[in-house]
Amino acid sequence: MQFSTHSTTSFHQIKTAALAVGVYSDGSLTPAADVINQSSDGALRETLTSEFSGKLGELLVLRSLKGIKASRVVMVGLGKPEVYSSQALFKAQTAFAKQCHAINVTDAASTLSLEMTHDASSAQERALLSAQAMTQSLYRYSATLSTQSNDNTPKLKQFQLITAKSDEEAAKLGLKQGQAIGNGMSVAQELGNLPGNICTPTYLANEAKLLARKFKTIKTSILERKQVEALKMGSFLSVARGSDEPLRFIVMHYTGTDFKHSSKASTQKTAQSTKTSSKLNVKTSVKNALQVNDSATGPIVLVGKGITFDSGGISIKPAATMDEMKYDMCGAASVMGTFQALAELNLPIEVVGLIPACENMPNGRANKPGDVVTSMSGLTIEILNTDAEGRLVLCDALTYAERFKPSAVIDIATLTGACVVALGGVNSGLFSSHDELAHQLQDAGKQSQDPTWRMPLDEPYHEQLKSNFADLANIGGPPAGAVTAACFLSRFAKKYPWAHLDIAGVAWRGGKDKGSTGRPVPLLTQYLINQAQQRSA
Ligand code: BES
Ligand code: MN
Ligand code: ZN
Repeated sequence: MQFSTHSTTSFHQIKTAALAVGVYSDGSLTPAADVINQSSDGALRETLTSEFSGKLGELLVLRSLKGIKASRVVMVGLGKPEVYSSQALFKAQTAFAKQCHAINVTDAASTLSLEMTHDASSAQERALLSAQAMTQSLYRYSATLSTQSNDNTPKLKQFQLITAKSDEEAAKLGLKQGQAIGNGMSVAQELGNLPGNICTPTYLANEAKLLARKFKTIKTSILERKQVEALKMGSFLSVARGSDEPLRFIVMHYTGTDFKHSSKASTQKTAQSTKTSSKLNVKTSVKNALQVNDSATGPIVLVGKGITFDSGGISIKPAATMDEMKYDMCGAASVMGTFQALAELNLPIEVVGLIPACENMPNGRANKPGDVVTSMSGLTIEILNTDAEGRLVLCDALTYAERFKPSAVIDIATLTGACVVALGGVNSGLFSSHDELAHQLQDAGKQSQDPTWRMPLDEPYHEQLKSNFADLANIGGPPAGAVTAACFLSRFAKKYPWAHLDIAGVAWRGGKDKGSTGRPVPLLTQYLINQAQQRSA
């Protein structure tokens, strides 16, 4: 889809197949709706008596209005004016996008982002959310559908965002960012929706290689079993051993073309060694960064859980909804989707993506309850439940992350059913002992309509992970299951600022609308947009 901005206040002159104008539930018209109403002899006001209430997301299509160039005016309910927020804008814009697909128009325009929100969003943020809503609405799963049930491709090709003249530049940037986030979400959704017999660890690795072929700012390398053995990732290997499907450890490295290697702090610290070669300089700055615990140098590492199917292993899951465990690689998918968005935006930042990918299956060599394995960190783990496999693959990836001297490490995982119980499909569970990083992620979540809720990691929870036969056990019993899983991971993430996102509840939807959501690509991309801005300032 092509996006453009158009700055005008002559709303009745806008040429398009469908023009969105906002109306509040108290009957007040937005300025755009008001102009349309006046130019059409009160056509909009007329509907307010019985057909249209202005409830958030409500829609009414009016065709061929006298005095209006647009072939259709779509009235979009904005809800109560006193609580009109970015979230409401996003919902209204999404409703309009769906309507455009339902009526099969090929081009559309929206005045919705002209309206200020009570959370004081900028024109750029409103354009971002509008573009994200439009892009996201285009995604359709079709990979394994025959042509007989595959005729719902959206026809919409062009979208104009109506802006104020002074906001045009900001809106253009917002449109680009919203589109990149929407495209990143589609990448994540597609990988999440593909069945386990197609989306295998090898398939994920090939997709990561494809990303590197598509963007010269991304480099991908794939480690196979032999290399993973050489690294002594005994915990990851133990999970992978239960399946005939070969494991992959995916390493992606993104460096924006405008990325500058040394931060202010490190240039200061290494000022005395400016005559040495630049390569050495980087090394020294990283060393100094660690010594002074400076968090502005070093890449941000994203670690995604890549279990392409989780049967539970020997501690096998019940049959009823086991198909849903094909979504157990949504952490990995969100990392790849975020790389797509990063590269599209060419953000001036350095990001590493790590994906331990394998299946969790119960063959003759699978983990057995009571087995003890040695992780890459040297810590031994007693596997009391083979279905707590996510933490077993992630812990070795967290140790591997140390070699990048990261400024922050964020792991993303469909880790626990307990997190679904605690937070449902609204918030991702956010765990971090680093307040600054936690706040940055919380803020990015709010900004991108992809929210998180902070959860505890207090010392007393660690009690539950004690084992008589190893340094720690892989489960902590029923109470606080999401917390003890995060506590387990924290043991392997002591050498850098770390945060964990449990996305078991938000990454996919069950029931009739079963499918992958593309979350938390918006949150991660927004966090990186903010970091790129902050670090290059
Ligand atoms: N992949 C699951 C977590 C999950 C459950 C994600 C439901 C999405 C929906 C994870 O590997 C798992 O099985 N966790 C166990 C841990 C338990 C054995 C301590 C769980 O949550 O039941
Ligand atoms: Mn499991
Ligand atoms: Zn799992």
